[in-house]
Amino acid sequence: MNILVTGGAGFIGSHTIVELQQAGHTAIAYDNLSNASVVVFERIKSITGKEVEFIEGDIRDSAKLAEVFATRQIDCVIHFAGLKAVGESVVKPIEYYDNNVGGTVKLLEAMRDAGCKNIIFSSSATVYGTPTELPLTEDMPKGEATNPYGRTKSIIEDILADTQKAYPDMNVILLRYFNPIGAHASGTMGEDPAGIPNNLMPYITQVAVGKLEQLGVFGDDYDTPDGSGVRDYIHVVDLASGHVAALKAVKPEGGLHIYNLGTGRGTSVLELVHAFEEATGVAVPYAIKPRRAGDVAACYADCSKAARELGWKAKYGIAEMCADSWRWQQANPDGYRA
Ligand code: NAD
Ligand code: UD1
Repeated sequence: MNILVTGGAGFIGSHTIVELQQAGHTAIAYDNLSNASVVVFERIKSITGKEVEFIEGDIRDSAKLAEVFATRQIDCVIHFAGLKAVGESVVKPIEYYDNNVGGTVKLLEAMRDAGCKNIIFSSSATVYGTPTELPLTEDMPKGEATNPYGRTKSIIEDILADTQKAYPDMNVILLRYFNPIGAHASGTMGEDPAGIPNNLMPYITQVAVGKLEQLGVFGDDYDTPDGSGVRDYIHVVDLASGHVAALKAVKPEGGLHIYNLGTGRGTSVLELVHAFEEATGVAVPYAIKPRRAGDVAACYADCSKAARELGWKAKYGIAEMCADSWRWQQANPDGYRA
């Protein structure tokens, strides 16, 4: 299939392009480079041996999108493009609603006008809000988002569901990611956060490489086995292959499908720190800090629906996630800017 990958230069998009190419699909990347570098396309080519067609553009640019759809046969859109920093979304809500929600509406208009009926969307476990029961299944009701970023994901899910209802031959596939970490095993592609990382794994690797002094563990008094927060970490390459598998849900008759993409296993902050030390032999100094506002105690997925319907299951464990994140960080201490 010909797949338009919005946000294709980003962390998850770039790994997904590798998996798409390796599965025989043609990926066309569309990205405004607001949080990415074109260097990633050289890295993809050195892994797969294939060029990626890259179009620099913004999903809010209707004319550009119209041209892309008019000049290519796009079978499906995988829609990663968006802003994703939770803290930033609290201080810049207008930018987040404009970029994520407004951008998705423009993308849908362009798809409708061009007759492109299939979209796979990057949603998040954040739409479940504070879990009342674990593991989380797709049929559980969505919860209250704790920040504008999370609300954009929930709103976009609703917009996509309404659109699919109005155009029943459309395929809308909502993928709810748990916590993607890790990097490509080659060490040439990985997560490249700008500034001080907000998320746990990039913080750990930057402490390990000596760029940051110590990790703050946000809370050791949660109702979890060791008191630190529990999450369902998933290797980014598994997450990427989940998108290739999700193409199986694209059917001629159309439909709306939701899948959790995680491993189904919860790992605490302290367990991840110790697993990282074990996998890499590098110490990660840490100090216990107060809880971070908006954090939940534990969050992990029931992934049996994706296994049953898509034949997809995460293959990699925490040790590989740690080793691969570290290989990437060591080889690219300044990310793609190096
Ligand atoms: P990322 O920032 O690395 O990738 C997003 C890409 O979209 C970037 O390359 C950026 O330049 C591009 N982009 C942003 N706004 C754009 C616009 N208006 N037009 C065109 N391109 C634009 O982030 P990621 O971690 O790869 O996340 C990809 C998607 O998955 C995002 O939608 C994110 O919200 C979602 N998601 C990520 C996580 C995570 O932990 N990384 C978890 C759940 C969901
Ligand atoms: C966060 C976002 C979520 C988003 C996801 C991916 C919040 C409340 N949630 O998820 O919406 O989809 O990132 O971008 O921000 N931790 C530390 N020290 C740190 C960093 C994190 O102890 O320096 C802990 C956290 O308290 C949490 C765990 O590590 O228990 C994972 O945190 P993080 O990587 O930020 O992911 P989430 O909070 O699960």
